[in-house]
Amino acid sequence: MTITQSPKKQSTAGVEDDQDLSNECKDLLLSLPKEKGWRTKHIYLFQGFWCQPKEIQSILSFQRHFQARDSDIVLTTIPKSGTTWLKALAFAIANREKYPISEKKSHPLLTSNPHDLVPFIEYKVYASNDLPDLSKYPEPRIFGTHIPFPALAEPIKNSQCKIVYICRNPFDTFVSSWIYLNKVKPESLPMVQLEEAFEMYCNGAMGYGPFWNHMLGYWNESLKRPDKVLFLKYEEMKEDIVSYVKKLAVFLGYPFSVQEERDAVAEDLAELCSFEKMKELEVNRSGKSIMNFENKNLFRKAEIGDWVNYLSPPMEERLSKVLEEKLSGSGLTFKAAKRP
Ligand code: A3P
Repeated sequence: MTITQSPKKQSTAGVEDDQDLSNECKDLLLSLPKEKGWRTKHIYLFQGFWCQPKEIQSILSFQRHFQARDSDIVLTTIPKSGTTWLKALAFAIANREKYPISEKKSHPLLTSNPHDLVPFIEYKVYASNDLPDLSKYPEPRIFGTHIPFPALAEPIKNSQCKIVYICRNPFDTFVSSWIYLNKVKPESLPMVQLEEAFEMYCNGAMGYGPFWNHMLGYWNESLKRPDKVLFLKYEEMKEDIVSYVKKLAVFLGYPFSVQEERDAVAEDLAELCSFEKMKELEVNRSGKSIMNFENKNLFRKAEIGDWVNYLSPPMEERLSKVLEEKLSGSGLTFKAAKRP
């Protein structure tokens, strides 16, 4: 099935006319609140979250057509929270019978970026105007997405498939996003200055935000249905990755056997997916996996608390207040959210 395209590009005020959008999407955009974007001219408030025009079109198609299988794995994040890492870990865990970790030289993660092995729903699977053939994805099907929990396709929520969310301290997530988006934005758009970007972040008007709603959506669901949604924190994983590899493996239904424990497979897998290892691979230094963005920009520092090098004390105070106001009472807290 093909989504109807507009016969010619419209120049209707408010619509991003450089995008390959359906008439339906263009009409919808005209009715949505919009704000200045970072990577596109505008972002739009769609189903309660902010996103870009092309993403809205993909998400609508996904919501209408996606059929989940109980064996599916859905990896969810807000951008710059550790998506690439989580994709690598989940792929290596769930496919280790097909691709043994011991065969280190031929593992797909050595020659493919994790975003090619675990496609994004909104940037790859449903990015084209033609509906995807989902049967071409090998079992277990693993997908990645930034879509907030309430907006996931209903079959994902109602099936037995597993959802894993990785969450990162908002201070570091913001800095990582600001640096990344300024690298990948089109040259035609001006660089967004740190202070302006920070205001947008704190006001919630940033890709898939407000970030607090995004985090709380998955956080609350993980408390309600811990067998359905696993909520991970980037900082805790960095401190003890082997324990988290094992935890993730159990949650996904691929626990390590006694023999694998003896063979230290979880340790090897953690190493294969480590920042240091992945950053050095040729495919991650030179390739492009998400749209036309260079893979090398996905691997920057991977440090906890790097935000102190960018944010002033008043900025720290401002974001701390946002966190207090939006997250207090939820039980969701972060490490490294205070200047040492
Ligand atoms: P920094 O910009 O702070 O370095 P995402 O994958 O969601 O786009 O997140 C990107 C962030 O994760 C970047 O943070 C990046 O360096 C870090 N990252 C990438 N690969 C990683 C890995 N294998 N382990 C830990 N962090 C990783």
